[in-house]
Amino acid sequence: MIRIAAATAAAGPLAIRPWTRDDAEAVRALVVASADHLAPWMPWVGDWTAPDCDPRAVIEPLVAEWERRERYHGGIYLDGALIGSVGIVDRVGPDALEVGYWLAPDATGRGHATAATALAVDLAFTDPDVERVVILHDEANVRSGGVPRRLGFADRGTGPERAGLGAPGGSGVERAWELARADWSGYASRA
Ligand SMILES: CC(C)(COP(=O)(O)OP(=O)(O)OC[C@H]1O[C@@H](n2cnc3c(N)ncnc32)[C@H](O)[C@@H]1OP(=O)(O)O)[C@@H](O)C(=O)NCCC(=O)NCCS
Repeated sequence: MIRIAAATAAAGPLAIRPWTRDDAEAVRALVVASADHLAPWMPWVGDWTAPDCDPRAVIEPLVAEWERRERYHGGIYLDGALIGSVGIVDRVGPDALEVGYWLAPDATGRGHATAATALAVDLAFTDPDVERVVILHDEANVRSGGVPRRLGFADRGTGPERAGLGAPGGSGVERAWELARADWSGYASRA
C-alpha cells in the first residue's frame, strides 16, 4: 500500500503526475517512438507496440493500480510535454518504496531522469511508513545506475534479479541502491 500525501510534484519546468485514462494515446506514442531504447530494459514495451494494441486497455490496469494505491505509474513532463515516466512501487519491504524511471531517448543526457526521480523520492517520503527509498536496475544498465548515484543513494551491491524486474536484455544480476530518510533533505524545495 502506498500512502503518499501528494501525487504530483514539480520543480521548474519539470513535473510528475500519475497517468490517467486520457493519457493512453500519448503514452503509447512515446513508448512506440522510444521502443528500441526501452526494450532491452523494460519488459512491458511490447504491450504498447503490438499492432493490435488498444492503448486504453493497456493503461487501464495501470491507472487502476494507482487508484488502489498499489503502484504509482506516472508521466514526466517538461514544459507540459510528456518525456518519460516514473513509477513508485511497494515491493521492497514494509518501510520502503522503490522508484523507477525511463525517458524518451531524445530527452536523455540533461538530468531530467535524475530530477524526476528526485521529485518521486520527495513524494515517497511523504508516506509516513517510508524510511528508505530503493532503486533497482540490471547490473548491465549503467546509465540507470547514474540516477541514484547522482542523488546520493548508497550502493547496496548486487544479487540475483528479483521477479518483476525482468530486463530482457539484461545480465540477470540486479544492483540495489538505497536512500535513508535521514539522508534526504528534499528536492523540490531546493531545486
Ligand atoms: C535510465 C535513463 C532514464 C537515464 O537517462 P540519463 O539521460 O542518463 O539520465 P538523466 O536524464 O538524469 O541525465 C543524466 C545525464 O545528463 C547530464 N546532465 C546535464 N545536466 C544535468 C543536470 N542538471 N543534472 C544532472 N545531470 C545532468 C549528466 O551529466 C548525465 O550525463 P552523462 O551520463 O553523460 O554523465 C535512460 O537511459 C533510459 O530511459 N533508459 C532506458 C530505460 C531504463 O533503462 N530505465 C531504467 C530501468 S531500471
